[in-house]
Amino acid sequence: MFIVKPRIPECGAIKDDNKMTMEQYSEIMKKQLGKEYLRFAGNVITIVTPDNNSKVLEIGPGPGWAGINLLKKRPDLVLDGIEASNDMIRVASVNAKNEGVGNRCNYKNGFAENMTELKDATYDLVISRDSLHHWVDPEKVFLEIKRVLKPDGKIFICDSRRDLKLTGKLIVTISVISFLMVWVNTGKHQLL
Ligand SMILES: C[S@@+](CC[C@H](N)C(=O)[O-])C[C@H]1O[C@@H](n2cnc3c(N)ncnc32)[C@H](O)[C@@H]1O
Repeated sequence: MFIVKPRIPECGAIKDDNKMTMEQYSEIMKKQLGKEYLRFAGNVITIVTPDNNSKVLEIGPGPGWAGINLLKKRPDLVLDGIEASNDMIRVASVNAKNEGVGNRCNYKNGFAENMTELKDATYDLVISRDSLHHWVDPEKVFLEIKRVLKPDGKIFICDSRRDLKLTGKLIVTISVISFLMVWVNTGKHQLL
């Protein structure tokens, strides 16, 4: 029998706290997941092939690396980001500027469940990487995506799987341990 476990969303917005600033988070993510962000951008281009001059909406951009890589690969695209954390917006805006795409990026603060400031049928493409597991009400988010997408718009959303087999769990455990080791080495942190 197939048992569906109840969905437990993660913490919602990720913000500065006394353990880590989002600048530190951003550097760790870039170091750890640099190739993964490039792969994401490549997949968006090859799998959904955005039309020329598409207007893209990124949900939960965090430090921005996924969308920034997409903009670097496709100089014709422009991107808005809807991000629940103002700390992430601060960092993503600096990252976009430093990577030379700041003039094609605009991050807005808000929850994707309620994108009231975004008009109907505005975007050609909605993307999101590793944010869905934070959404409190994914159904509401998908209804909002439908509203802000143009009728022939496209979506490309990916997220981690919870129903991992042993090998997957092992990979995640090793990744978490190496994440913590990088974190300890990049700042003046101690694990215990
Ligand atoms: C795990 S991070 C991933 C960040 C980025 N997409 C990446 O791949 O590096 C999840 C991001 O989604 C944001 N977030 C969580 N819930 C959200 C929501 N309902 N609407 C918009 N952003 C949300 C968090 O603040 C965080 O920046």
